[in-house]
Amino acid sequence: MTVLTTKSKILSLLEKNRSLSLSGAEIARLLDLSRSAVWKGVEELRADGYLISAITNRGYTLLEENDILSREGLLVYLDNPFIDYGDIHIYESVGSTNQEAKKLAVAGAGQGSLVLAEEQTQGRGRMGRSFYSPKGSGLYMSVVLKPSDMAFQAILATTAAAVAVCRTLSQMFNIEGKIKWVNDIYVDNLKVCGVLAEAVSDFQTGAIESLVIGVGINISTRFSELPEGQAIRETAGSLLNKPHATISRNQIAAKILDELFNLINIESTEKMIGEYRDNSFLLGKPITVYRGNETYWATALDIDALGGLVIKKADGSIDTLRSGEVSVRQIDQDPPHIVKE
Ligand code: BTN
Repeated sequence: MTVLTTKSKILSLLEKNRSLSLSGAEIARLLDLSRSAVWKGVEELRADGYLISAITNRGYTLLEENDILSREGLLVYLDNPFIDYGDIHIYESVGSTNQEAKKLAVAGAGQGSLVLAEEQTQGRGRMGRSFYSPKGSGLYMSVVLKPSDMAFQAILATTAAAVAVCRTLSQMFNIEGKIKWVNDIYVDNLKVCGVLAEAVSDFQTGAIESLVIGVGINISTRFSELPEGQAIRETAGSLLNKPHATISRNQIAAKILDELFNLINIESTEKMIGEYRDNSFLLGKPITVYRGNETYWATALDIDALGGLVIKKADGSIDTLRSGEVSVRQIDQDPPHIVKE
């Protein structure tokens, strides 16, 4: 059982009453603390960076603009009945939250164990790419799933995460996220989110024991400040100009998790795939497929029941991609086998 410190109890109460005023006497009464303990706890929270106003005769207020990741801030919003979020790890700085979550999974962490970080120094993307994860401006989160605890098929986890992020963007920000198979989410033609699903397998049997789903969202990341010539500067976007001043990363993380666990536990996969299709920006478009050492042209036709991308190749044959990478192709682009001088 976690023993809550005075600071943690005060933070929980203030998070539950975000932007409302609570007098020192009220906090002391509600938490069974002395007035001086409340004062000391508030000072400690301020030293941690929390913006807490104190107005005579009104009391303490946790200001709306607070955006520090915390267990207390998350737990206010994490109320999905299907999951008991006991195991939450929050880092100031970490190599990769997926890496940490995989270590937890190997050590026996259960379904819904969470790792979040203010910054990743070695954030990872698909196909060996890195994921730029500067301090405080993005959401970097990994969650452990246990296939044995789910009726849900493990192969659909990435699909579910992408749909959960699109629902979050739509419901919290009124933004339509567009999915580029398999896991990238674009807003206004710029990538704002990536999902990295990794499996932890039993060495002996090869069976998947745990899945780690990592979600990275650029919330207020300024790519324009990156040195010129970096591709990410042109292709990545953030929610910077969207109306989100009062939505904290704790709230965004909790909403994504809530949607993810609803999708995994109670919703039909047909409905989920339908939403994925509706949000896909590939379907019907000419694409370039990168698969192992192969690069070829095709047209994106559909998303199948397992989240695979159904394509029509140049020779007219139909295939379904379960791995690899695609990009939208400009109609006037040269075929991949033509090497330009
Ligand atoms: C991609 O763009 O290919 C996927 C990016 C996934 C980034 C997230 S951030 C949290 C988690 N930790 C990582 O190292 N990667 C994922």
